[in-house]
Amino acid sequence: MTAQANPQAGPLDFFWFIPTHGDGSYLGSEQQQRPPEFAYFKEIAQAVDRLGFPGVLLPTGQNCEDSWITASGLAALTEKLKFLVALRPGVTLPTFAARQTAALDRLSNGRLLLNVVVGGNPTELAGDGVFLPHDERYAQAQEFLTIWRALVSGQSVNFNGKYYRVDNGRLDLLPSQERPPLYFGGSSDAGQELAADLVDMYLTWGEPPAQVAEKLAAARKKAERRGRKLRFGIRLHFIVRETEEEAWRAADRLISHVTDAQIENAQARFTKEMDSVGQRRMAELHGGRRDRLVVSPNLWAGVGLVRGGAGTALVGSPEQIVERIREYQAIGIDTIIGSGYPHLEEAYRVAELLFPRLGLGTKRAQAHENIANEFAVGFHGANRLQASS
Ligand SMILES: Cc1cc2nc3c(=O)[nH]c(=O)nc-3n(C[C@H](O)[C@H](O)[C@H](O)COP(=O)(O)O)c2cc1C
Repeated sequence: MTAQANPQAGPLDFFWFIPTHGDGSYLGSEQQQRPPEFAYFKEIAQAVDRLGFPGVLLPTGQNCEDSWITASGLAALTEKLKFLVALRPGVTLPTFAARQTAALDRLSNGRLLLNVVVGGNPTELAGDGVFLPHDERYAQAQEFLTIWRALVSGQSVNFNGKYYRVDNGRLDLLPSQERPPLYFGGSSDAGQELAADLVDMYLTWGEPPAQVAEKLAAARKKAERRGRKLRFGIRLHFIVRETEEEAWRAADRLISHVTDAQIENAQARFTKEMDSVGQRRMAELHGGRRDRLVVSPNLWAGVGLVRGGAGTALVGSPEQIVERIREYQAIGIDTIIGSGYPHLEEAYRVAELLFPRLGLGTKRAQAHENIANEFAVGFHGANRLQASS
């Protein structure tokens, strides 16, 4: 079923990802690796801006280039692209984050979105000076976002909480947007409570549709209890090829260098070191086993053998992947944050193979249909000659 043929398919935002920790063609191998360099991020950002992706996600973590600084550099080099910038409440003050928000939103002419990332790895968080246990990190984030939201909306703030005190806080320079939207991905109960209270878009990792449906229902219920409505998004890798066979070959190739020791190491980190419910749900999909990677039709968990966070990919022909996307849309997803290795080439594949079938992307390609070149039917002006004869 094509997108155009499905009248129920609502609007879809298809974002991409800037790999600020590096990129490559083979997981678990330095062969054909691309280091995290600004010049490369610029190539990806400019390509996806031109291809009609509406935005990009910039992650945060010990191994990532800073999301704010990178986004402000890229904003000046792109036109329409929005920047979903990771914001980690525990490592900065809400007042300072509000000022940065206003500056980046103004600099980018209102193209800033924020992804609230509380963090799920106590070892990494301790390295950043954050020592709060899981649920308390969310309690701190609750205070943080309450102050941040008031400041960026132009209110002056007096706040006396458990984690922050602010006397007569205010922003003289406000963001371009009324308030830059808040995105958030946490699967725990405490995370969902925070989402229900304060965020606009609830994000999930790419779990099978039934699990996503169950998770969204729980978050939706919590929001409804507060008289609020959430939007929903999903984070997935994509391996789309003209045929299903080609796509599965590409998936196998991507993990062809991964060793058993690497898998064991990574899984130990995800299950023992981290306290993230979302990460545990991802690890449980495959249990670190190479023979359990197809977790639902066209959904492959191979990336999660060695990568934390986004561990699943939709693998298949364009028609199959569009069908899977429509299934996610039917349970309430209206935003996809995609990626693929390497991120530049796979952005082109997604835009060329999926976007036309999803009714997405720029219309520029169509405007050039009549150009006489080696891609035109009949070669070198034959179309025009036919038209005039
Ligand atoms: C789409 C998405 C993007 C995320 N990006 C990051 C990130 O950049 N850095 C990070 O440390 N955690 C990231 N996370 C993880 C969560 O924000 C959260 O910190 C962690 O999973 C703990 O939440 P939980 O126990 O409620 O699941 C992301 C999660 C999702 C769903």
